[in-house]
Amino acid sequence: METMDWSNLGFGYNKTDYNVRCYYRNGKWGEIEVSSEETIPMHMAATCLHYGQEAFEGLKAYRCPDGKVRVFRSDENAARLQSTCRGILMPELPTERFNEMVDKVVRLNERFIPPYETGATLYIRPLFIGISAQVGVHPATEYLFMIFVTPVGPYFKGGFSCNDYVIIREFDRSAPLGTGIYKVGGNYAASLRANKMAHDLGYACEFYLDAKEKKYMDECGAANFFGIKNNTYVTPKSTSILPSITNKSLMQLAEDLGLKVERRQIPEDELETFEEAGACGTAAVISPIGKIDDLELKKSFQISKNGKPGPISEKLYNKLRGIQYGTEPDVHGWTRVVIDN
Ligand code: PLP
Ligand code: COI
Repeated sequence: METMDWSNLGFGYNKTDYNVRCYYRNGKWGEIEVSSEETIPMHMAATCLHYGQEAFEGLKAYRCPDGKVRVFRSDENAARLQSTCRGILMPELPTERFNEMVDKVVRLNERFIPPYETGATLYIRPLFIGISAQVGVHPATEYLFMIFVTPVGPYFKGGFSCNDYVIIREFDRSAPLGTGIYKVGGNYAASLRANKMAHDLGYACEFYLDAKEKKYMDECGAANFFGIKNNTYVTPKSTSILPSITNKSLMQLAEDLGLKVERRQIPEDELETFEEAGACGTAAVISPIGKIDDLELKKSFQISKNGKPGPISEKLYNKLRGIQYGTEPDVHGWTRVVIDN
């Protein structure tokens, strides 16, 4: 651990000291438990295994140059998890309990929070599963909510540098009135083949179009999409994409920077009009887009003309990172200090 090569960390699982767990039984939440086990004892007929009663979240803790450790908008992750729970009939975990467990697991694993200079962060992964036995398709009566953490580097190659993406028309990740708006494992299972296809073809990630008309930009497998033109930040409005907290924050920062913000359907052909575009998310941060290919239509939308991120994406990135690392004023109250050294 002392020899961990922080600067060359990829986005993957690294063992840490502790995770935190909380069981829901008999209609109420129990005490927070601290565990150093990496495994979960579970009934073989647990609903999470058979019927996908599984929800997760993703957020990060940042070791800041002022010595403090901050987390970013965890209230929003708690709210999205509650929305997911309503979507797949799981009991809602109160925001206060969510935050308490986030803070606890970060503090318990302080030695795994990468140093500021390395660009790596501590990824926080809340997981919520139905654990009681059912064979008929019904929600569980018992649940486990837990959080583990792992130090991570950039999700897409090179961090803040241009990557190429490909539109995959052969698969949908979610249906217009399906579970795309929830953070459930099934959406990611549905994305695995398209994701492999994209990687095998040398692209950073797959892009999905809306499942109904195959006409509008939806999102990537693990990040939202935005485009910039005429001093306007444009991002898809869709019933099948995950409401990204990073995207929500970027919309606000764009407005703060004097840009117009539009949330609307984005026809694929509009891609050729964008001056800049990016994929955004907790893992992706802002991952600027070089080009997006549509192999079936034999089209290539070249976004970056010089292979470099555009100036507005860079401004947004610097603002967002600055707030996360406490070097920019947090005027919207988005961060919480978890460790105050
Ligand atoms: N879209 C998908 C499918 C994701 O998995 C993620 C990651 O959480 C995002 C978008 C970005 O969301 P956020 O910015 O809240 O991390
Ligand atoms: C995130 O950005 O937090 C994600 O969850 C993306 C991916 C690793 C699923």
